[in-house]
Parts: sequence; C-alpha cells; structure tokens
Amino acid sequence: MSIELFDRIADDYDKWYDTEIGRVADQVERDLAFQLFQPSGPKILEIGCGTGQYTTKLAEQGYQITAVDISEKMMALAREKITNLGYEVKWLNADITQIMDQLEQYQGILTMSAFEFVPNAEEILARLFEHLEPNGCLVIGVIAGDASWGEFYRKKAIAKPESVFAHARLYTEAEIRQWKVGGRLVLGKALYFPPEVSSVERALTMEEQKNTTPSFMVAKWVKE
Ligand SMILES: C[S@@+](CC[C@H](N)C(=O)[O-])C[C@H]1O[C@@H](n2cnc3c(N)ncnc32)[C@H](O)[C@@H]1O
Repeated sequence: MSIELFDRIADDYDKWYDTEIGRVADQVERDLAFQLFQPSGPKILEIGCGTGQYTTKLAEQGYQITAVDISEKMMALAREKITNLGYEVKWLNADITQIMDQLEQYQGILTMSAFEFVPNAEEILARLFEHLEPNGCLVIGVIAGDASWGEFYRKKAIAKPESVFAHARLYTEAEIRQWKVGGRLVLGKALYFPPEVSSVERALTMEEQKNTTPSFMVAKWVKE
C-alpha cells in the first residue's frame, strides 16, 4: 500500500461520522468491537489508528496505548485529538508489517477497518498474536466481502479507481474462520442494514431484526 493512500483523504475522513447513517454504522460497529475487546490489562496496541476514532475512546477508558498508522496525516489528526483531551499515547508512524521487531508484549491488540489494507493479513495477524501476553486478545474489525456494504465499496472502487476502496481486500466469514492466527476464535457480526437504508429508524430496526447478511465482522483470538 502506498503511504499517500490515506494521507490524501485524511482531512475529509471524519466527515463520514457527521452523517446520520455514518453515526449509526459507527455505533453498531463500535458496540460490537468493545463488547469483544476485553484485554487482560491496560497495555494495548492499536493498529491503523487513523484519525483516532477508536484511540480517543480507548484513552477515555484508561488504556495505555501504543498507536500505529502508516499515514502521517491520519495520525497527526489523531494526535491532535488525544493532546486536546489531555491523554498520552505512544505513536508509531509506520507500516505495521515492517515494525514487528519494534513491538513489545501487549494485553490487547485492536485494529478496526484497517486489515482490509494490510497485505498478507493472516500471516501478519499470526505474528501479532505472538505479541500478546497470556489471556490477552487480538481483535480485528473488517467489512465483510459478501454483503451490501462490501458491494457498495466495490462499486465505488470501480467508479473511482484512485479511491482507497480500490486498495481494499474484503474477506468473507468463511475465509476468516480458516485463518490460523492462534488461540480460540470468537466472531461477532453487525451492520445488518444496507448503505442506502432510508432512515436511521429503519437502520436500527434492521439491526435489531438481524435477518439480512451482516456487513461487518469483528474477530477475536484469545491467547490461552
Ligand atoms: C479506514 S482507516 C480506519 C481508521 C480507524 N481505525 C477507524 O476505524 O476510524 C484505515 C487506517 O489504516 C491505516 N493503515 C493501512 N495499512 C496500514 C499498515 N500497513 N500499517 C499501519 N496502518 C495502516 C491507514 O493509514 C488508515 O489510517
């Protein structure tokens, strides 16, 4: 992946969270992620921190965070938010695949909506799993390749080959279940409404009914 990929959209990235559907989608994904992310202690690694959407929440929960991101611009926005809130984070502006030897041991590792852009996902996750302390957990959130939001991003990639979506690799539940990362896998699902859902009310109803193919998966591997 080119370093400039997310640099180019950094200034607009948070606008998605100002839209009604963006907020609901974020909420259902975040609820699922925090339901599964239960580190064995406060020392955690966040990969692909972006503009700090999760970093700020993790800091508010009292975690000691090391945050990694390949994009200098995305990370600069995260850093500004964290500084304004008065928290401290250890920042590593780097490609996660290139800094395995710099990583320490963590009680939790979280990566949300980033592994779609990381090559050799299974291999990198297996290496990250080695950086977990006993009872620690590795949690990733990704868009599912075989549901409505995946289709939406695929169409965007075709319409705009220079967009970040053109660089995304979307996985299915079956693929993730076959990955040999280590430990026991727990897989949760969310985002049961499509991108073109008519209203927030309808989105919330669909989220409750769960009778469509979910578009977001959160996978967790626990070190036993
Ligand atoms: C879609 S954004 C998600 C940001 C944030 N986790 C969130 O949920 O809002 C993906 C982020 O992953 C970062 N990223 C992609 N590939 C990476 C890599 N190999 N190493 C580190 N960060 C990477 C991008 O720069 C970008 O900031």
